Amino acid sequence: MYIKITDISKSYGTKENRNQVLSRVSMELEEGKICVILGASGSGKSTLLHLIGALETADSGQIQIGGQEITKMPEEKLSDYRRDFLGFVFQFYNLVQDLTVQENIEVCRYLTEDSLDLEELLRVLGLSKHRDKFPAQLSGGQQQRCSLARALVKNPKLLLCDEPTGALDSKTAGELLILLEQINQQYKTTIFIVTHNEEIRKMAHKIIYLKDGMISKTETCEHPASAASLCL
Ligand SMILES: Nc1ncnc2c1ncn2[C@@H]1O[C@H](COP(=O)(O)OP(=O)(O)O)[C@@H](O)[C@H]1O
Ligand SMILES: [Mg+2]
Repeated sequence: MYIKITDISKSYGTKENRNQVLSRVSMELEEGKICVILGASGSGKSTLLHLIGALETADSGQIQIGGQEITKMPEEKLSDYRRDFLGFVFQFYNLVQDLTVQENIEVCRYLTEDSLDLEELLRVLGLSKHRDKFPAQLSGGQQQRCSLARALVKNPKLLLCDEPTGALDSKTAGELLILLEQINQQYKTTIFIVTHNEEIRKMAHKIIYLKDGMISKTETCEHPASAASLCL
C-alpha cells in the first residue's frame, strides 16, 4: 500500500502542560517496501506507528494509505481499515495468555475470508510443534514468532512492527528479521520496523531518523542488504 504522510503533528497533555511528540512529520513510502524508523527513546517512533495504524489520532496533518485518507475517516471505517489491511507486531508480543499458540492465531484468521494457510504459517514460523502450548510455555523468540503469525494470518497489506526484536537475543532477532524479509518478498507486504538498533537500517528501502518528534534525516536504498548479513 502506498503511504503518504503530510505535516502530521501530535501532542499529549493539556494546554498548560503540553508535550509536543511529533511536529510536522512528512514522508512517503512506496508499496511493497521496508521502512525502518530509527530514533532515541522518546523521539516519537511508537506514536508515529500508532498514527499510521489508526490506533491514535493526529492533531493535524494527513495520512493517506492506499489512496484512503485515514485522518478523516469515521471510527467505523477505521475499524474496517485496521481489520482489512493491518498487522501489528509489538515489542512484548501482546499475546492472549489463556489461548494456545494456534488459538491466538485463529482469533485473527476469522477476521478475513482471504487468510493464509494456518498449517503453512505454523511451519514457516517454526511453530508447528508448539501449536498447543500457551504463551507462558514459550521462549521470547517463539512468542514473537507467534505474534508475527497472528499479524500475518490475515495476509495484511501493511505490517507495523514496534521494536519487534527489542526483547530478543541477537540470534533470535536475526531469525525474526529474516522472516520479515521473506514476507516482504513473498507477499509484497509493506513493512514498517521501529527500532533503535542502527544495524537494522541496512535491510530497509527507506530509513527515517526521528529526533525530538521531527524527521532529522531520510535515506533511501534501492538494494538493501539481506537480513542474514546483519551483525546484530
Ligand atoms: N498515551 C500517551 N500519553 C501521554 N504521553 C505519551 C503517550 N504516548 C507517548 N507519550 C509521550 O510521547 C513521547 C514519545 O513517545 P513514543 O512515541 O513512545 O517514543 P518512542 O517510541 O520513540 O520511545 C514520550 O515523551 C512519551 O512519554
Ligand atoms: Mg516506542
